[in-house]
Amino acid sequence: MNINWKELTFHYTETDYIIRSACKNGVWEQPYATRDKMIPIHAAATGLHYGQECFEGLKAFRGIDGNVRIFRMEENAKRMYQSAEGLLMTPVPIELFCKAVLLALKMNINFLPPYETGATLYFRPLLVATTPDISVGPGKDCEFVVIPTPIGPYFPNGFKGMPALINRTVDRAASQGTGCWKVGGNYAASFRASEAAHAMGYECMFTDTKTHKYIDECTASNFIGIRTRNNATQRYEYLTPRSSAILPSITNDSLMTLAREMGMKVTRRRIRVEELAYLQEAAACGTACVISPLTKVIDPDNNITYTFGDKPGPILTKLYHALQDIQYGRVQDKHNWCTVIKQTT
Ligand SMILES: Cc1ncc(COP(=O)(O)O)c(C=O)c1O
Repeated sequence: MNINWKELTFHYTETDYIIRSACKNGVWEQPYATRDKMIPIHAAATGLHYGQECFEGLKAFRGIDGNVRIFRMEENAKRMYQSAEGLLMTPVPIELFCKAVLLALKMNINFLPPYETGATLYFRPLLVATTPDISVGPGKDCEFVVIPTPIGPYFPNGFKGMPALINRTVDRAASQGTGCWKVGGNYAASFRASEAAHAMGYECMFTDTKTHKYIDECTASNFIGIRTRNNATQRYEYLTPRSSAILPSITNDSLMTLAREMGMKVTRRRIRVEELAYLQEAAACGTACVISPLTKVIDPDNNITYTFGDKPGPILTKLYHALQDIQYGRVQDKHNWCTVIKQTT
């Protein structure tokens, strides 16, 4: 194995093993490691035809003390449970999910990047319905896999911002659809918009599908904004959208807790696009980046550009470091967010 950790990106790099576990007639098999990265799947599987599949994304960090920390693994397990229930799939039991992720780590420990690199070991759990059936309806048998891959730092050249572009011509997920679950169809539906934005160097921002007046989220991240409150005890407000169509981000949840601890007012409500004018800082947040500050947001339909400065603002920078410090074991993990796997060497 010869990996140049510094050159890793967010693309797939093959490791030694993936973990598999199938569910047949409601019975789960014990998760096991295999070198074979191919999963045999019936050509008539409902997962392939009707999009009955869901996935997750979480990371393991090599800490400053040499130990490994997996961040909020149980929350990902719970979210996948909800995604599966949303698509009438057989959910993966929480313990089985965690067992499979731990096994994926153990079997691929050599692929966990060293501390100083800023790279991490990312796990992609995937659940796909395998029941062969052509008639439109949910299948109950499924295959669960955990695919590990080392990924590079999101900010190889330092923590910095990028611009975002609002897209109202493509709806990512309907207000009473599947947006609150991590299902492949949401991403396929957003590709037209996100690829167009990315090609121009922008993050893509989606609005609510009913009125297109409220901010929903970005392609693979929640939106957060920071507002200064004059003459208020809580000088800063952390604002994030409430919407039935967005994924409940585990990073956002963690940042809200940290923001409260820093004395900020934390508000989750519908946020109109024009309210961007009252924010001092704005960002996208998620597992991949933790926080990706937005330098500006362009609303092409109303010909308005909301600017937030070329450099990440002080509050988002503080939140970013506070969360990374926990993930890398540089500060005490008061909330027990990390599963720590002690290393002897
Ligand atoms: C659509 C969407 N929103 C938000 C997020 C951020 O969620 P998390 O912080 O759990 O990674 C993700 C990534 O998982 C996502 O794909």
